[in-house]
Amino acid sequence: MLTDDAPGAFAERTPQPFSPPHPEPLERMLPWQVLARAMRNPIEAWPRALFEGTSWRPPFPGAPIFLTDPAGVRAAMVDHAEDFPHGALWRRVMHPAWGEGLVTSEGPEWRWQRRAAAPPFRAAQMAALAPRMRAAAEAALARWRTALQPIDIAVETGRIAFDVILDTVLSGGEDFERAQTEARVRAFLGQLEYRRLSYLFLPDRAHRGKHNKPAPEAALLRADVDRMIARRRSAPPRGDLVDLLLGTTDPETGRPMDDALLRDNLLGFILAGHETSAVTLGWALWLTAMHAPTGTRIRAEVEAVTAGAPVDAGHIDALVFTRQVIQETLRLYPPGYQLTRVCMHDTVIDGRAIRAGTRILVPVYALHRHRAHWHAPDAFDPDRFAPGEPQPDRHLYLPFGAGPRICLGAAFAMTELVVILATLARSARFTPLSTPWPVASTSIRPGGGLPMRVSFTAA
Ligand code: HEM
Repeated sequence: MLTDDAPGAFAERTPQPFSPPHPEPLERMLPWQVLARAMRNPIEAWPRALFEGTSWRPPFPGAPIFLTDPAGVRAAMVDHAEDFPHGALWRRVMHPAWGEGLVTSEGPEWRWQRRAAAPPFRAAQMAALAPRMRAAAEAALARWRTALQPIDIAVETGRIAFDVILDTVLSGGEDFERAQTEARVRAFLGQLEYRRLSYLFLPDRAHRGKHNKPAPEAALLRADVDRMIARRRSAPPRGDLVDLLLGTTDPETGRPMDDALLRDNLLGFILAGHETSAVTLGWALWLTAMHAPTGTRIRAEVEAVTAGAPVDAGHIDALVFTRQVIQETLRLYPPGYQLTRVCMHDTVIDGRAIRAGTRILVPVYALHRHRAHWHAPDAFDPDRFAPGEPQPDRHLYLPFGAGPRICLGAAFAMTELVVILATLARSARFTPLSTPWPVASTSIRPGGGLPMRVSFTAA
């Protein structure tokens, strides 16, 4: 894992490693050129200092501080998390989409919601959801058998992730017309285009006006979810997240979530969990298709573990290599490529004085490729995460964030991604027809999509 690995070790572990496409850290450029790149694709504007140093501050007044060493990240996100909230600007940017749910809340309001929402997301609950996740993969396989080739796998992983959302967060579609809801969810998510985290260091007025009003589709989606919650209050349980959340209360105070808060949080889970899972699955399929030994190992593992049975939650712990592929995909293309906080009080972090009001950015994408901490940082090597290897510091590898605001849906996402990758890889072969360029937007998307030919192994 670390730079002092024996030089030959990598080649022995993973035959024919390859480095998927990535922008090289920026050397020297004029400020206006950097700005143009930052607006188009922030990771193309990140300088070498972010990938080599311990912190970096762009040379303009009021600039944020980028923390790029694990100690600094831990101090801001874990040890002093109370002093480094998301801040007022985050709330203003996110509120039109997220409402009053836990992502826009801070302090005691956030704490009780988090306590109440946590039990349904525990790993133990995933056994009930795994078959719904596998069904989304099986539906995709059925579609592809008769689809015109080539297929844009980026579009398809969006559909798979949407099916999972529909079946786990939106009552299985009983209350929703699929195509209409997908269009509304797309418009709802599209609002975030204007709210890209990279804009957070612009003045507040950049976030007012027409770009910060909820899309009309968001109101329709809200009304749909309200109707669904009202019906589900008196319907028999169907074992999805809605059931689990309807019955949930704050374990300390017994306070239940009222229907409006439940709706804001369900919509928030769509926002947090749809694109993140879709792009990760897309990149994982592309990386696996580009590196034949990885595909072969996944298929052998799935057959050995499941003995031909459908992939289920009970198999997940034994699908060790498949999980490593997801972990390595999340290292190379973390959807949450940059996290943001605000320093509330003058403070010193790891020897650096930080003034109250300073914006803090944690460039996860750069930490995941930091030259001082990773061996062959740009290469695809799932064996980094093999059980016998030294595991990376959790403040250096943080696809799901760190500290109290760590992703609520991490177990959900890992179950979903492992079950679906295993189910797809055992039946289908993918031949990529292009080399996608990573474009940082609301996640790191494969620019140009993922056109591929899909063929099938004998049943
Ligand atoms: C590959 C998939 C996913 C990735 C990479 C991911 C990543 C993240 C990250 C980095 C954060 C922390 C943000 C911060 O500190 O500012 C976060 C928070 C969150 N995520 Fe995820 N996420 C994923 C899937 C999901 C899913 C499937 C759900 C729900 C169904 C979900 C729900 C949430 C929620 C509710 C929060 C806010 C937690 C809080 O503020 O207390 N995520 N996610």
